[in-house]
Amino acid sequence: MEGIAEYGPTYASYLGGAERIIYTADPGLIQYVLQKNQKNFGKSRLQTKVLSRFAGKGLLTVEGDYWRQQRRLIQPGFHKEKLSGLVKIMLSVIDEQLDLLEAKFEKQSVVNISEEMMEMAFQIVARSLFSTHTEAQDLRDLSDNITDIQRFVIKQVRQPFKIPWYYLSGQFRSADQTAVHTKKILQEFIDFRRSETGEHHDLLDMLLSARYEDTGEGMTDTQLVDESLIFFSAGHETSANALAWTWYLLAQHPEVITKIKAEINDVLGDRPPGFMDLPNLSYTMQVVQESLRLYPPAWIMDRIALSDDEYEGVKIPKGTMIFPFIYGVHRLPGYWENPDEFNPDRFDKSKMKERPAFSYLPFGGGPRMCIGVNFAYMEMQLVLIQTLRRMSFQLVNKEDVIPQPLITLRAAKGIKMRKV
Ligand code: HEM
Repeated sequence: MEGIAEYGPTYASYLGGAERIIYTADPGLIQYVLQKNQKNFGKSRLQTKVLSRFAGKGLLTVEGDYWRQQRRLIQPGFHKEKLSGLVKIMLSVIDEQLDLLEAKFEKQSVVNISEEMMEMAFQIVARSLFSTHTEAQDLRDLSDNITDIQRFVIKQVRQPFKIPWYYLSGQFRSADQTAVHTKKILQEFIDFRRSETGEHHDLLDMLLSARYEDTGEGMTDTQLVDESLIFFSAGHETSANALAWTWYLLAQHPEVITKIKAEINDVLGDRPPGFMDLPNLSYTMQVVQESLRLYPPAWIMDRIALSDDEYEGVKIPKGTMIFPFIYGVHRLPGYWENPDEFNPDRFDKSKMKERPAFSYLPFGGGPRMCIGVNFAYMEMQLVLIQTLRRMSFQLVNKEDVIPQPLITLRAAKGIKMRKV
């Protein structure tokens, strides 16, 4: 944010004197890169090479015709109505995780809510994909492996100069083996499903039944494994961090909790939420949106210019790396009144129309916008509702909570809470 205050919303620098880099919090330039002229901006090496080596070739990490073909195939499965079957699955995971959380609070007065939400979000993605595969040990192996892979990717981002050392010391080989093992577990889950009968209304059913328009064929097992692994990489840590930041904000705004509880009472009374209730729980949704504005888990994005380009006088030579700075856009004073203030009312429907394009983009924008956006909104609404019916939290380490911008925006030392 200091850069924006000093140089304006777009500024350029050179990496090691060679590669040109543009950081931008200008919604116009971001729209140009992600939407209007998106054909000229590819994904960076981090996603297409580093991540895809371990997390596979799925929607997030592929480009060009193959991406287009996969997006067209998978997109219908993420339409709102298609997700309705997941509400029941999500509710049962959330209730189980809250039982565990309550039991934990009986043994210890303080918990790290960042870790709890990581487990919650992992279980939600895992069971939304593989609803019938609930063996705790299998899911634990999967979770440990995916965490190890993510840690290794983060290490490469934080300390790229150590990459030769990672090769020499066998860390790449070890991460490759973890990736192979992870894919083996996913393959077993898929084999198991093929042996089952009936419909399960989960994401794996959707992936298995999707057919390419031209051939009428479905995906191969390798594709199924890769796409499911990508859902974990893209949809686990992002949602977990978003939820942890939401609890951080709510702990400091009891008046917002009171309003959410009133809405739960009005819309649901004592019954569990159903899919049709979600649009009526609009204040809860506004809280989620406002939390994603202040702490967007995907705080920065990255693209690379494929040929020389120009936007309103800003030269963008071929090879320029462009970093749309989402956190910065979400706090631009010209676009947001009192930008640092947590105020869910700013997402009230009547105010939404005034907002300029690309001034709010926690899920990115243009054709590569997050495919899991409706999934994530639904998941966050349900976690907030079910948790607040049972407990709320008091923040223990306010002065310690410092946003740490790694691949996703997380709290460096976690967010520690007492139950109230
Ligand atoms: C709060 C939670 C989430 C946030 C903030 C988030 C954010 C994003 C962003 C910013 C992108 C665009 C990346 C780019 O263009 O470079 C993206 C892509 C993607 N996200 Fe999410 N995401 C979330 C949850 C999820 C969930 C739950 C899933 C799946 C279950 C998911 C699956 C994906 C996939 C597959 C892509 C790649 C789409 C494509 O390129 O076609 N995300 N996400």
